[in-house]
Amino acid sequence: MNFTELTEKARSYRRFKEEKPVPSSLLRMMIGAAVVAPCTSNLQRLRFSIVTGEHDRNTLFSGIGWAGYITDWFGPVPGERPAAYIVIHVPEKDELFTGIDAGIAASHIVLAGAAQGVGSCILLNFEADAVNRTAPAEGYKPVLVIALGYPGETVVLEKDSKKIRYWRDEKGVHHVPKLPLETLILKG
Ligand SMILES: Cc1cc2nc3c(=O)[nH]c(=O)nc-3n(C[C@H](O)[C@H](O)[C@H](O)COP(=O)(O)O)c2cc1C
Repeated sequence: MNFTELTEKARSYRRFKEEKPVPSSLLRMMIGAAVVAPCTSNLQRLRFSIVTGEHDRNTLFSGIGWAGYITDWFGPVPGERPAAYIVIHVPEKDELFTGIDAGIAASHIVLAGAAQGVGSCILLNFEADAVNRTAPAEGYKPVLVIALGYPGETVVLEKDSKKIRYWRDEKGVHHVPKLPLETLILKG
């Protein structure tokens, strides 16, 4: 798989094979990809937590908002839920540009996982209380949560689309539209 194929494969997945754990070594390798990512002034302020225990996963899951455009679906059912989560924490103080660093780190994690067949979904819609109960981090707050697992759904990239909203068809296939390159490049 070349890099273009990897970026096209690295879609957001929201239904997983919950019973198939993602090995701890693989989760750590994915965080390793974030550790070497570029970050503001190389300050390396981000911290990471791995959540895999069933009780913790249930707690964290309860606060997540899934797929806002699919209004008749309220998230994955038992058996399809994430097998693991990675939480990205930022310092409560010294927050300048940490959101940008977290986004870059999350992208590295997602791509590293996709290269190994792990599906993921970056999540902003989570309850901080639920995350803090499962992954407490003194002096830090959670800024992003990444749901992880082996994919339990088919996701199709719709290139050169005019749409923004993703949709799910009658067979349950998730479609992700992306605008054409020519629309997005303003110069050059
Ligand atoms: C910063 C960020 C926050 C996101 N938050 C959520 C979320 O809370 N819930 C969700 O279901 N998807 C979330 N997503 C996934 C986006 O909906 C997804 O990236 C988008 O639909 C495009 O699909 P793709 O990732 O397959 O390209 C988030 C993605 C990013 C980058």
